[in-house]
Amino acid sequence: MVSAMTKHAKLIAGNWKMNGGLNANEALLRALLQGAGGARCDVAVCVPAPYFSQVQSLLAGSPIALGAQDISAHAQGAYTGEQSAAMLKEFGVRYAIVGHSERRQYHFETDDVVASKAEAALANGITPIVCVGETLAQRDAGQTEEVVKRQLAAVIHVNGHCISEIVVAYEPVWAIGTGKTATPEQAQAVHAVLRAQLHHAASEHAPGIRILYGGSMNAANAAELLAQADIDGGLIGGASLKAPDFLQIIAAVA
Ligand code: PGA
Repeated sequence: MVSAMTKHAKLIAGNWKMNGGLNANEALLRALLQGAGGARCDVAVCVPAPYFSQVQSLLAGSPIALGAQDISAHAQGAYTGEQSAAMLKEFGVRYAIVGHSERRQYHFETDDVVASKAEAALANGITPIVCVGETLAQRDAGQTEEVVKRQLAAVIHVNGHCISEIVVAYEPVWAIGTGKTATPEQAQAVHAVLRAQLHHAASEHAPGIRILYGGSMNAANAAELLAQADIDGGLIGGASLKAPDFLQIIAAVA
């Protein structure tokens, strides 16, 4: 019982999105490796797929983990443009973001697809970072709780037996890349809803499942967000592209 309830270290994961280049990646990672030595948390960078090999070698033997931004729900075959979990595994990928709002919006990923992607990751020993979050219109209509619970329920439905292995990221769509951050209280309120839902699905594991906050988290607001009871880390977009900013967020973990 005690071990099942043990909290993981907090996780600070960078989501580079479609940014980077061989030279820029190397400079960024060298700065991170130099600065992240005493990190009191787990650290990962989710990079564009063409750079897996480069980033894998630069991070070899370091405590910074490699992550992907997406993963195919399928094992192999005629799925042009997709990358399977087994392929990611060959490059040492430890985490895969699934269901990011940009994938839901621009690639029409449904809750069911997101659940299958999480399943494919888990089956290959890759930790899915399952993103949920409401749009501004949904928040204004009072639907926040309903939306995030529906999104998480689909993943729990398919992956209930190993739900303790997932990471959840609450990313209000209106806060992503906008400079508008959820207040610590707004974020904590939704995180508590998600924690309760996880508790319902897997009571003994729920306290240990990491729920990250994402959406304009930066060096200035990270400490206060990360101090909330149910905020177990961050998924960082823009600020993960600048080494000093990302390092400050890592240092903000108490
Ligand atoms: P942002 O992106 O930090 O740039 O708002 C977060 C994300 O989309 O994961």
